[in-house]
Amino acid sequence: MEHGYTNSTVGDGALVVKCYQGPEAATRLGTESRYLRRLRGRLPVPRVHQVTPTSLTTRFVPGAHGQDLLDEGRASEVLTECGRVLARIHRLGIVHGDYGPQNLLFDPATFEATAILDWEWAHPGAPVEDLAWCEWIVRMHHPEHAALLDRFFTAYAATVPPWSERQAAMLSRCRALLDFCARWEPGGGGEKLWRERLDLTASWAA
Ligand SMILES: Nc1ncnc2c1ncn2[C@@H]1O[C@H](COP(=O)(O)OP(=O)(O)O)[C@@H](O)[C@H]1O
Ligand SMILES: [Mg+2]
Repeated sequence: MEHGYTNSTVGDGALVVKCYQGPEAATRLGTESRYLRRLRGRLPVPRVHQVTPTSLTTRFVPGAHGQDLLDEGRASEVLTECGRVLARIHRLGIVHGDYGPQNLLFDPATFEATAILDWEWAHPGAPVEDLAWCEWIVRMHHPEHAALLDRFFTAYAATVPPWSERQAAMLSRCRALLDFCARWEPGGGGEKLWRERLDLTASWAA
């Protein structure tokens, strides 16, 4: 499917099959299926249909993709909802681990989240990890909307750590992804890309 960045996802309008690729694929599959089951009824997440040793099938959830809505000029609505939804996740004591508009679907009329996707990196952790990563996604991939990040932080309506802590969290995640790519394909394109992103992130000022 469009907007899949790590694994291979195919959907037919009823079901979506995600086949886990790369290092620790089985662990990530286990994490995602466990969190989806645990969160069902507490947060908008897809229903698990089937789990095999290498794939997870979920029910297709209709909704407009966050990145498409950003491109369509809906950054204010999207980032506000990203903040509200993240507060709900953190109230449960969970860190999503890959949080941002790239992993949310929205009702195109109300901009309410219809699904929070991609729980393979979820873990108990510090809220700054998700706050920083959503900010990083917007600054890196949608810089024209970075000025609207205050909507995200305001809607989160809880303490937002200072820039130094958020940047440290961004750098730590970039390093983890660099390491992930290096284990997947040593000396490959992913490694080069994450090294560049790491350097760029280190050069950012608040
Ligand atoms: N249950 C679902 N319903 C509708 N679309 C989905 C569903 N699961 C995944 N998708 C689509 O597939 C994309 C990739 O899925 P995701 O779990 O984020 O994989 P990746 O780890 O590759 O990013 C999502 O961004 C979304 O567009
Ligand atoms: Mg994803």
